[in-house]
Amino acid sequence: MVLRFAILTVLLATALPATADDRVPPVTDPVVLKECGVCHMPFQPAFLPARSWSALLQGLGDHFGEDASLPSDAVETIRAYMTGNAGDVVSRGAARKFMRWVAPDGTPQRITENPAFARKHNFPQSVWTDPKVVAKSNCLACHPRAADGHYE
Ligand code: HEC
Ligand code: HEC
Repeated sequence: MVLRFAILTVLLATALPATADDRVPPVTDPVVLKECGVCHMPFQPAFLPARSWSALLQGLGDHFGEDASLPSDAVETIRAYMTGNAGDVVSRGAARKFMRWVAPDGTPQRITENPAFARKHNFPQSVWTDPKVVAKSNCLACHPRAADGHYE
C-alpha cells in the first residue's frame, strides 16, 4: 500500500512539470505588453529566434505594411527582452518545436509561417476567412488564453 502510494506520487510529480512545460512563457515586460499589444496580442518571444526579433525591431517603420515606429529607448528595451527570451534561448516546450524548423541562418519574421505552426493549423480556407478569425496571427480568436501562454 505504501509502495503503491509512492509510485502514484512519482507519477504525479513527473506528470505535472510536463503540463507546465506546455505553457509558452507569457510576456511580462510592461513596455512589450504596452507597445506590442496595440494592434495584436503581444506575441511570446519563444516563437522566434533572437536574430528574428532583432531584424523585426530594426524594421518597425514598415512592419507588415504598418508604421509601428517607436522611440529608440523603447525599441532597445523591447529588443533586450525579446532576444533574451527568444526561442533559441528558451529552447524547450513549444519553443523547441518551433526552432527545429528554423534554418541555422534563417531569420523568419512570421510565427504563422513556421512549419510547426502549419502542422497544427492545417484547417480549411473557410476557417481563415471566418470574420471571427480573419488572420492566422489572430491567436486569441481560437486560443482565448493565448496571452497567458496557454495554447493547449
Ligand atoms: C501599428 C500596429 C502594430 C503594432 C504597434 C505592432 N504590430 Fe506586429 N503586426 C501588425 C500587423 C498589421 C501584422 C500582420 C498581421 C497579419 O498579417 O496577420 C503584424 C504582425 C506581427 C508578427 C507576425 C505574426 C505572424 O503572422 O506570425 C510579429 C512577430 C509581430 N507583429 C511582432 C510585433 C512586435 C514585437 C511589436 C512591438 C514592437 C509589434 N508587432 C507591434 C501590426 C502591428
Ligand atoms: C483558427 C483557429 C486558430 C488560430 C487563429 C490559431 N490557432 Fe493555434 N491551434 C488551434 C487549434 C485547433 C490547435 C490544436 C491543434 C491540434 O492539437 O492538432 C492549435 C494548436 C496550437 C499550438 C500547439 C499546442 C500544443 O500543445 O501542441 C500552438 C503552440 C499554437 N496553436 C499557437 C498559436 C499561435 C501562436 C497563434 C497565433 C499566431 C495561433 N495558434 C492561432 C487553432 C488556432
